This record gives sequence, structure tokens and C-alpha cells, in this order.
Amino acid sequence: MREITEYAYAKLNLSLDVVSRLPDGYHELCMVMQSVTLCDNLHLRLRDDNVIRVSTDLCYLPCDERNIAAKAARAFFAKTRLAAGCDIDIQKNIPVCAGMGGGSSDGAAVLRALNTLAGKPLSQAELETLGGTLGSDIPFCIAGGTVLATGKGETLTDLSVLPHCHIVICKPRFSVSTPELFSKIDSRVIRYHPDTAGLLKSIQSGKLSEISRRMYNVFEEVLPTKPNDISIIKRALLDCGALGAVMTGTGSAVFGIFSDEDSAVCAKRRLSQIYDEVFLAQPQQKIEI
Ligand code: C5P
Repeated sequence: MREITEYAYAKLNLSLDVVSRLPDGYHELCMVMQSVTLCDNLHLRLRDDNVIRVSTDLCYLPCDERNIAAKAARAFFAKTRLAAGCDIDIQKNIPVCAGMGGGSSDGAAVLRALNTLAGKPLSQAELETLGGTLGSDIPFCIAGGTVLATGKGETLTDLSVLPHCHIVICKPRFSVSTPELFSKIDSRVIRYHPDTAGLLKSIQSGKLSEISRRMYNVFEEVLPTKPNDISIIKRALLDCGALGAVMTGTGSAVFGIFSDEDSAVCAKRRLSQIYDEVFLAQPQQKIEI
């Protein structure tokens, strides 16, 4: 096999807590992550000449070695000592700079795809470790599913599958710088933390309303007060019947969980009148590596 199509699923944070600041400037995190059906489509073709080429349908994304997909391919060939290159074409559907792990998921999809094309020389754990050298969210994105992520985001514990539901995701026009938001959180005392233990119990018992009610992200507290799209989107989602609504990662996308599809469709329609990037998705189950 010389070529393959791979899907890179978006991630959402059902919860995000910053536990401490580490000596290297990174942070110890405690997050419940969920992959969803919204995905980028990647097509990879092996080359014999060691060249790695990336193309994408988003003109402002870098296609050189700054692209995480190229970095992932380079890392895979180095780790497996394969003398090969590849062409990677990425069709972007996940909004960029949204807190949805779009770039990380593309990197993880490249690692999965190359591992398949090479006859699976690396295990899931080895792919996660390799991914962790490229970005903190990549280990989760290797297999996805419903997961508790701790440490810098690389220590993963599988959780029960999220009950079937409909998720409306809305990315406002503004984006947030991840390092900036982390440094903002360093400069103040975090007043509220998610009830992660309670959330884990709710996931185990499969009660969607309890899960949704316990979603919380510490970064919402340190966002700039203007523009206040985050609270506008949350209000709209809840008014349309969402069981809970929260910002994902360091933003700026916000999502709401619905048990009922008609309400979710209605919320999507309502938000689409104001925002360009509104999506309907469902939870994505773990990928078998
Ligand atoms: O690892 P990654 O490049 O995805 O992280 C992006 C930024 O997020 C880092 O530069 C750092 O500012 C912040 N970060 C952090 N602690 C983590 C993960 C990310 O401070 N555990």
C-alpha cells in the first residue's frame, strides 16, 4: 500500500483545569477530553525521495516544515529509520485557533497513517510518546475517544464512552493566543475549578445531563471581557435547550451538548445567523490502532 486517506477528528474539553505551573514554564493540567465527528480529511502518498510535501485548502496555513503534519512525518521517518518521504494533502474542516486541536489532530493522523502504510511498526503507546514530542494535545489525538488527560496532557486514561448526543460547536471571529492565556492564568488565583471527580462519576454512570452540568473550563475566567461572544454563544446554546455549554481548550470555540437532535439543529441555525463557523457533531469513539 502506497497511499491512504485518514480522518483527523476534532477534540473538545468537557473540562479543563490548570493544576500547577511546572519549572519548564509548561503547566500540569487535568482535562476530560472528547473527540468528535467533525474532522479534517488527509490524503497521504509515500515517496521514495525523502521529500515531505504538504498542501492544504486553507491558503494561510504554512505548508513548509512549520506545518505540524510535516513535523509529524519527519519525526515518524526518523524514529522508524525509514528512508522515505510523503505527499500530505489536508482538507481543513476543523476551525483554526479554536481550542479544538485541529493542528494536533492533523499531526496525529499523519502518525497513524504512516504507521499503517509502514506495516504498523509502532504501537499506540509509541505513537503517543512520539506525538508528545511534537505537541501536548497530540498523544490524545492519536486514538481519541473519551479520556482523562493529566500531566502536560500526555498521561491518558480511557473513560466510559459518552452517551449518544448532539454537539453544537461555534467559533467566534476572534482567536486567543494559547501561551498568552496560560501566562494570564499564572498571574492570578484561579477562583473556581471543575469538579473533575464528579464529572468522572457522571461519565461512568452515563448520565448526560449530569455530565453536561459539570463541564467547566478555568480559562473562561481569564478571557478578555470584550468581545463577550463566549457568553453570548453559551446563552444562545442554553436557550435552545443545551444541557450544558462551555468553551473548549484555550478557545475561542464554545460548544453545547443536546440530548435532542431537533434542538441542536435549531441552535445551529440560530447561531449561523451571527457566526460563520458553526458545526453539528456527535461524539467520536476511540480509534483502534
Ligand atoms: O505543546 P503545545 O505546543 O501544543 O503547547 C502550546 C502552548 O501551550 C505552550 O507553548 C505553552 O504555553 C502552553 N502549554 C502549557 N502547558 C501544557 C500544555 C501547553 O503551558 N501542559
